[in-house]
Amino acid sequence: MKTMLVEALGSVEDLTLVEMESPALIDGHIRIEILACGLNYVDALMIEGKYQIKPPVPYRPGSEVVGRVTEVASDVTRVKVGDRVFAPVGNGGFSNEAVVAESRVLALPDNITDGQGATFMQSYLTAWFAFNYRASIVEGDTMLVLGAGGGVGLAGVDLAVSMGVKVIAAASTEEKRQLALSRGAFAAIDVSTEDVKARARELADGRLDLVYDPVGGDLAAQCLRALAPGGQYMVVGFVAGIPQLPANHVLLTNRTVVGVDWGAWMLRNQADNAKMLVEVMGEMAKGKLHPVEPVTYPMSQAAQALKDMQNRKIAGKVALVPDFDGV
Ligand SMILES: NC(=O)c1ccc[n+]([C@@H]2O[C@H](COP(=O)([O-])OP(=O)(O)OC[C@H]3O[C@@H](n4cnc5c(N)ncnc54)[C@H](OP(=O)(O)O)[C@@H]3O)[C@@H](O)[C@H]2O)c1
Repeated sequence: MKTMLVEALGSVEDLTLVEMESPALIDGHIRIEILACGLNYVDALMIEGKYQIKPPVPYRPGSEVVGRVTEVASDVTRVKVGDRVFAPVGNGGFSNEAVVAESRVLALPDNITDGQGATFMQSYLTAWFAFNYRASIVEGDTMLVLGAGGGVGLAGVDLAVSMGVKVIAAASTEEKRQLALSRGAFAAIDVSTEDVKARARELADGRLDLVYDPVGGDLAAQCLRALAPGGQYMVVGFVAGIPQLPANHVLLTNRTVVGVDWGAWMLRNQADNAKMLVEVMGEMAKGKLHPVEPVTYPMSQAAQALKDMQNRKIAGKVALVPDFDGV
């Protein structure tokens, strides 16, 4: 088996391609040939040792994959050789094969491509958790989504629109804004040139009910102040830095700041999370959710893909495709 590995946490540049013995196939497990692995911002944080969980080294990144089943243990009944499956592997996805418990994989609906299947989980489950378990959302609400052309933001746009929410998308490039508009946002704000607070208030007609924020940084305090009375601010991520949210603007007009930590919840609620995954996949199969077709990079170029993501060059999502023959 070939895999990308980091010997010590620190830099995405230190990812190296190594050959390892293929894992043994044990009872209840299947072997898959990996067709695509989703890239998440969290992968970069993990490799750099900046995530709240420090993985033991040597570390093999890559948490969500689509694969073709090549072998099944004798007690496996639900999956057969040749099936195309989605597998939440946790780690080790930047590889050309994996061994996974049969109970963890889901058959991939025909209308979902390898790339879409490998890149939806973290982004959509975060949004699903935020909107169904953390914030109180009703049809007709207006939501500002920050980083709306990135993975977590774009999934937030798609899911919110499917729930009947009116979405305003904020992003830095025309390509990212167009992507968010294509998922049903009714308006877009250019964060690099516009006054986001004033424009969001104007577009929401003074009734901005919700902010979904996977970005943080300096914009956060402005966006908190754009909220209408009783508005809710979902704190999701900090790609632009951990913001200081002024408590006086939380108190004023009874706003709420809602923490969203899908990762921690998922680890403590694995059965509920598995149900959520089936539910989200079901909505994708019915065409009610529309994960973006990702940009693809050869898997051996994982470091470059991670750097491009960190430098805001990616609109939507990235999938890594194994290219190890001859590398
Ligand atoms: N709370 C949770 O449970 C949870 C779960 C998953 C992920 N997350 C977090 O969510 C955040 C976003 O993840 P993602 O996968 O959506 O990342 P992503 O695909 O790279 O998107 C992030 C977006 O943030 C914007 N941005 C603004 N300033 C930036 C900066 N200095 N560096 C990089 N991007 C910047 C960029 O949009 P513009 O160029 O348009 O500004 C970019 O498209 C991460 O912090 C991740 O850890 C949280």
